[in-house]
Amino acid sequence: MPKDSLTITDNRTGKTYEIPIENGCIRTDALRQIKVDEKDFGLMGYDPAFLNTANTKSAITFIDGDRGILEYRGYPIEQLAEKSTFLEVAYLLLNGELPTKEELDEFTHTITHHTYVHENVKRFMEGFRYDAHPMSMVASTVAALSAFYPEAKNIKDAKIRRIQMMRLIAKMPTIAAFAYRHSVGQPYVYPDNELSYVGNFLAMLKKIGTNTYKPHPVLERALDVLFILHADHEQNCSTTSVRTVGSSQVDPYSAVSAGVDALYGPLHGGANEAVLRMLREIGHVSKVPEFIAKVKSGEAGSRLMGFGHRVYKSYDPRAKVIKRIADEVFEVTGKNPLLDIALELERIALSDDYFVKRKLYPNVDFYSGLIYEAMGFSADFFTVLFAIPRTVGWVAQWEEMVLDPEQKIARPRQIYIGPKRRDFVPLEQRKK
Ligand code: CMC
Repeated sequence: MPKDSLTITDNRTGKTYEIPIENGCIRTDALRQIKVDEKDFGLMGYDPAFLNTANTKSAITFIDGDRGILEYRGYPIEQLAEKSTFLEVAYLLLNGELPTKEELDEFTHTITHHTYVHENVKRFMEGFRYDAHPMSMVASTVAALSAFYPEAKNIKDAKIRRIQMMRLIAKMPTIAAFAYRHSVGQPYVYPDNELSYVGNFLAMLKKIGTNTYKPHPVLERALDVLFILHADHEQNCSTTSVRTVGSSQVDPYSAVSAGVDALYGPLHGGANEAVLRMLREIGHVSKVPEFIAKVKSGEAGSRLMGFGHRVYKSYDPRAKVIKRIADEVFEVTGKNPLLDIALELERIALSDDYFVKRKLYPNVDFYSGLIYEAMGFSADFFTVLFAIPRTVGWVAQWEEMVLDPEQKIARPRQIYIGPKRRDFVPLEQRKK
């Protein structure tokens, strides 16, 4: 008997099966041989929300949720946040290795020269109402790019595939900035290829008239680090959406727009916006115990937004870095008055049995909103600030999926619990 195997006895039949274990997993399709008789479909796994199911092998991002470890291609997030830049990290995620100086220069040149969007994309965005949520605008505009680059559907062509990936990374800040300018009723600002990725983005947001806007170097670096922290997070809800939609072999714009939509939700990237609203609702440090009691009682489904994670059962390593950046940003902008409420919430939650028992710690979204707000962003723009860097992770994961010979169209099974077969009842014979 091979050592790496699982022996299963089916008590319905008394039969025993041996299932190989590979990478700490069994293949659930190996369970299909377990049947009560020949007509039986075979045993399946039931795992709503993928609590314990790996749906891919991946070489991009490693997380150890119990120990609070996050690594991109083997490099600890803390080292990347301290020593690297967002575009360097983007190159790493896409290519597996840190770039040489020449490789980084070429990559930066490629990204900065794909930042412009077609004028019709601009007109498309002008069609949104003044109060459209920026995430809705970004998601639909990314989907619309598919109509501007019809060749993108040739996903098996490496060169074509890569160009679309570069376009997505390069155009995301432009689309995000246009969405912002639209919502504040200001003219859109075209990209400036002389600026850094983040500097150009900030300029497209803040420039008024002909003035030459210069971002504060501390704030520019802080946003660059936040982009590094948000660049990828393995098989989260939005990445899984990108992979699932992409598995139908649709073009990457359509797949990535599904990722933007998934990120928009308050349990995922939308949590940073929800945290800010929660802190405002609490209003004062003295009200924190009352709010914690409300969360614990489950009143109206209230949760402590920015707390808890499916994978991290200890402090989210990104939240630690963000706390440090917050101090640097507040030195420049002045302290966000909501910080005291956040710190008190964290202090009480980390010592409260309810949160300790459930291993609920601050996640990446708990402090990021405070920084964004101090930098002058409005709450409904926070998730867009998450979507820009996550685009790198989405396209890296999308390409990995396209190239993975084991992947097929995503198609889960279900357990049917509806009515048994029955005959159609004509309208006049139906009773209430
Ligand atoms: N506040 C209060 N209770 C919580 C929270 C929270 N934030 N999160 C989980 N719980 C409780 C939950 O009620 C449950 O308790 P019980 O066992 O008594 O029923 C237990 O903890 C386990 O929760 P779960 O919902 O089964 O956990 P999950 O892995 O399905 O959910 C989560 C993970 C992130 C959706 C959840 O923790 C949550 O809703 N957090 C608040 C939203 C948030 O901050 N999301 C950002 C996540 S990190 C960045 C990102 O993905 O974008």
